[in-house]
Amino acid sequence: MNTESTTINFKGQDENQMNITLFKEKIETKTLHIGIIGLGYVGLPLGIEFSKNGFNVTGFEKNAQKASLINQQKSYIPDISDQEVADCVDQKLFRATTDFSNIRTMDVLIICVPTPLSKTKDPDLSYVVNSIQTIKQYAKKGQLIVLESTTYPGTTEEIIVPELSEFTIGTDIFLAFSPERVDPGNETYKIKNTPKVIGGVTEACTQVSELLYSQAIDQVIPVSSTKAAEMVKLLENTFRSINIGLANELALMCDKLDVDVWEVIEAAATKPFGFMPFYPGPGLGGHCIPIDPFYLSWKLKTLNYDARFINLASDINSSMPHHVVNKVIHGLNQHEKSVNGSKILIIGIAYKPNIDDMRESPALDIIQELLSLGANIDYHDKFNDSLELAKQSFKSVSLDQSSLSRYDCCVIVTNHDYLDKDLIINHSKLIIDTRNMTKGISKDHIIKI
Ligand SMILES: NC(=O)c1ccc[n+]([C@@H]2O[C@H](COP(=O)([O-])OP(=O)(O)OC[C@H]3O[C@@H](n4cnc5c(N)ncnc54)[C@H](O)[C@@H]3O)[C@@H](O)[C@H]2O)c1
Repeated sequence: MNTESTTINFKGQDENQMNITLFKEKIETKTLHIGIIGLGYVGLPLGIEFSKNGFNVTGFEKNAQKASLINQQKSYIPDISDQEVADCVDQKLFRATTDFSNIRTMDVLIICVPTPLSKTKDPDLSYVVNSIQTIKQYAKKGQLIVLESTTYPGTTEEIIVPELSEFTIGTDIFLAFSPERVDPGNETYKIKNTPKVIGGVTEACTQVSELLYSQAIDQVIPVSSTKAAEMVKLLENTFRSINIGLANELALMCDKLDVDVWEVIEAAATKPFGFMPFYPGPGLGGHCIPIDPFYLSWKLKTLNYDARFINLASDINSSMPHHVVNKVIHGLNQHEKSVNGSKILIIGIAYKPNIDDMRESPALDIIQELLSLGANIDYHDKFNDSLELAKQSFKSVSLDQSSLSRYDCCVIVTNHDYLDKDLIINHSKLIIDTRNMTKGISKDHIIKI
């Protein structure tokens, strides 16, 4: 479990047992105080879930506006309602603060801060490093620290452990990694019923973390190390990235063969074993799938290994917005129009249906490329009222018969459930459908990817 640069000191079985017993007692008496570092898409639902189970939770949030909204009983994450926040805040089980000195009163600290990529697509761990350096100032014996931010295998031991060198990990402080699996907008699987993987630096760390998470989550899956737990998350997201890459390449191949890729996938999916359908689309989006595989390939590069599947899938997936723009160009050409000067409506700008998250959304790349070709762009998305892009400000336009008929082309980028498919089909001059929203409908003015 050790890395070359790090020494983990295992000592004091008695002290260890004492701290575990104390931890158990605090759980049983619900006096355990949980601190969440970063109240975003991951941290807020997690904190609320612990509060719902009777635990005292404090969210430590750098963004003062977010902290203030929570204390005013307002949610800024679609999966969490104002009522859920109000219930927990009212019962004094949940609060947010920008005062990090309160860390010293916590029994548990769960780090849920962003792990983006730098401009050169290298891991940017600055938020994680900043969090652990803050925690370190106030850390005390008996605390459990868990990193939930997605990162490359080895991070916990290489980045976090050295920062805690004044403690004996596994005896006077516990440390684990537990990947977050939250799927924004998923109505079936929430925090509680999504199994949680946990890997501690020592067995005691795993034991204490398992105890904690089993208070709020139905099933907890311990693995043998933090590195294994870190790798689990990257396998899950790399699996998706590669399979979506395959579906996207299938779309490109079917385009050349003049075969409907959607029909092919639907038919293949009738095989009751050995096949799992993935679908093409306008490109990857969100904070996970387009980013996380690069954490793995970056780490492997430092070990002189080239992660070929990851790179290939990334090439194909990132070419999809351009493929969509090509479809627009061809569609307009059939109508004897050019992109330059055409009025184009982008329908849906979030990266997936029924949520507002625009991070890494392919809609942004598509809009930028169309703008650079001289198109006049509007968009519609009820989850996002406004958009700042390419030094321009856009406002979501309404979607009705007369507005649709004003556009030379409509590009369906995000198939939100609320969208009126018939309205769009019946009143648009040209539709580029990147999501098979027009499934089963064959009309001259509809072009699918
Ligand atoms: N969003 C998802 O669907 C999802 C799913 C699984 C895993 N993850 C991973 O979870 C992590 C968090 O993602 P997210 O989507 O919640 O990000 P987010 O941007 O929604 O939230 C992160 C929050 O942390 C705050 N923050 C940043 N630095 C801080 C600091 N030093 N101290 C306190 N607060 C700080 C930010 O202000 C923000 O509110 C990332 O590693 C991400 O890859 C995200």
